[in-house]
Amino acid sequence: MHFTTAGPLALLTLLAHHAVPISATSNIVPDFEVKLVLNATAILDPTNSYKLKPSVLSAFSIPTTVTKINVQSLDTNSKTIHNAGWSPRIRKTEGESDFELTYKKRYPVTSTIDAALTTANTEGFDSTDID
Ligand SMILES: *[C@@H]1O[C@H](CO)[C@@H](O)[C@H](O)[C@H]1NC(C)=O
Repeated sequence: MHFTTAGPLALLTLLAHHAVPISATSNIVPDFEVKLVLNATAILDPTNSYKLKPSVLSAFSIPTTVTKINVQSLDTNSKTIHNAGWSPRIRKTEGESDFELTYKKRYPVTSTIDAALTTANTEGFDSTDID
């Protein structure tokens, strides 16, 4: 599971591989992921194939090796699935032979993180789910 902060809007994101029925199992114990929206003009070097500038690599301790991942989002043209809080994707990672089908369910954090986790639990996402 990932906790995502995008501007002033905080979203709780669950990454699960299956949905399970409502249970009395405890809430998911969250881990956190911070996403930063960076200015491409400020961080990419147009004289070096638009790779990250050395100052950015250094500031965030980013390795220079890369793993390519192709990602295909599944949705309708009008983003029906996204607007319902879901993000289903197919991923193909360089060097791996299989495809990965994942989905996230996002829960807005409108009061506390625990309240959002409880809402997720009532919808079948609990501590038995894997990230
Ligand atoms: C993005 O970075 C460029 C170069 O530093 C700067 O000129 C521009 O104002 C920045 N844009 C925003 C939206 O901050």
